[in-house]
Amino acid sequence: MANLFFEPENLMQSMTRFHDAKMQSPRHGVSWDDNDVPRSSVFDDTFYTRSDGQAETAYVFINGNGLPERWTDAANFSIAELGFGTGLNFLETWRNWIAVRSPSQQLVFTSFEAYPIGADDMARALAPWATLKPLGEALISRCQEPPRLPAFWQMDEQTGLHIIPGKAEATVARWDGLADAWYLDGFSPARNPDMWGPGLMQQVHDHTSPDGSFATYTAAAQVRRNLQAAGFTVTRRKGFAGKREMLLGRKQPEPEDHSAK
Ligand SMILES: C[S@@+](CC[C@H](N)C(=O)[O-])C[C@H]1O[C@@H](n2cnc3c(N)ncnc32)[C@H](O)[C@@H]1O
Repeated sequence: MANLFFEPENLMQSMTRFHDAKMQSPRHGVSWDDNDVPRSSVFDDTFYTRSDGQAETAYVFINGNGLPERWTDAANFSIAELGFGTGLNFLETWRNWIAVRSPSQQLVFTSFEAYPIGADDMARALAPWATLKPLGEALISRCQEPPRLPAFWQMDEQTGLHIIPGKAEATVARWDGLADAWYLDGFSPARNPDMWGPGLMQQVHDHTSPDGSFATYTAAAQVRRNLQAAGFTVTRRKGFAGKREMLLGRKQPEPEDHSAK
């Protein structure tokens, strides 16, 4: 396969910004539950739902952010994610994007990940979904060790993938991008509180474009309060499969400044 590793000049600055976070951490340990669902040995939680991870991504993150409808008429669209994990959310998003995009549109997907898993675990975790196979192979071929992070990969002519290593509490603050849609996908708030704290939720908000959105599978009260305090209008809706509720939200418009009049 051709090496499409992509380091255009306008991305080099961002690359330098995250250089000190270059991935040197040991590989994220993974064990396997029934049905071969991957479980983190660090956080003792699964990377995706036991029922159907691909369907959960479509319901919670894609549909929860109003996609693919919001792609219509968008020349450029930016998605950011907390927690790249197995790459499932990215791949399902890429698959949907390919199905509906028009030739001139561009999608950039940026994911913040502190404890990347190995390429072999990624391949095993993605194996259940035949519709993701060719896209998954394209991703896994770029994730072979030794890993090269931060990664700026042009996955096809209309899709860029950025993986930014390091703890999101620090790296989102240093990111110079804005997301039109956020996927908040840390492990459960009880096991992975750093991914849901008020400081990080504020950074997520501050790195959201006007009228941008977020979606997440959790409806934990403290997470909802942190997102509201950050400035999002938060809505609860029915969760995926057995989950009672999930959260989605929009950035509130900035109050008009009348002082200069
Ligand atoms: C539920 S998994 C994400 C699943 C992923 N979106 C997918 O499609 O497979 C949560 C991810 O958050 C990462 N993570 C946990 N704490 C983090 C932190 N403080 N900063 C950045 N990433 C973190 C974990 O390593 C893990 O990959």
